[in-house]
Amino acid sequence: MTRAVVLISGRGSNLDALLTTRPLVDFVAVISNRPEAPGLQLAARHGIAIRVVDHKTFPSRDAFDLALGDCINEFQPDLVIQAGFMRILGAELVARYPRRMLNIHPSLLPSFPGLHTHEKVIKAGIRIHGCTVHFVTPELDAGPIVIQAAVSVLPHDTPSTLAARVLTEENRIYPQAVRWFAEGRIEFLEDDVVKVNGADVKSASLISPALP
Ligand code: GRF
Repeated sequence: MTRAVVLISGRGSNLDALLTTRPLVDFVAVISNRPEAPGLQLAARHGIAIRVVDHKTFPSRDAFDLALGDCINEFQPDLVIQAGFMRILGAELVARYPRRMLNIHPSLLPSFPGLHTHEKVIKAGIRIHGCTVHFVTPELDAGPIVIQAAVSVLPHDTPSTLAARVLTEENRIYPQAVRWFAEGRIEFLEDDVVKVNGADVKSASLISPALP
């Protein structure tokens, strides 16, 4: 079994989806930077250890990162999963989990790293949007890509209607990426490009919904 620690900041829809990978993945803890994150209740209901490392109680980013790193290490994870986690971690903490920390980002990286992706996509008149699961590296939203899903941007879309459709796809691809990791199917080619192995791996991208 793969021991996983999940980092959250909010409702935990991705955490909820990730739980479908049990028992292949053993979720040993859920840690939030926000004490009021509803995802903590979700984790507790599933009997998963929960911790809060409240970023507002630390004098600096470095101090927060140190405390978060110590909290993660308490559980000795094979994999650290950022799921709706809204803090940018420093290079030192990220470097503790090379090729063992995942994140999901609501855009088709490398397009639109950072925040407010749905709003930017609509403003730019772009027709295809989506989400990306990638390994976390010190550079923000730029690590090796594991899987992506694409959705159409519809004429009447608002940032929230688009975000909702993207979130549905996030909740689909994240469990798939974590399952591939746990099954040992992820290989790193040169330049850190990820290759997903296995006869039944059709492709590492989901086009959804399939165009009529
Ligand atoms: C969404 O904004 C999603 O795009 C991003 O984190 C949020 C999901 O949070 N990855 P959660 O998993 O529902 O808490």
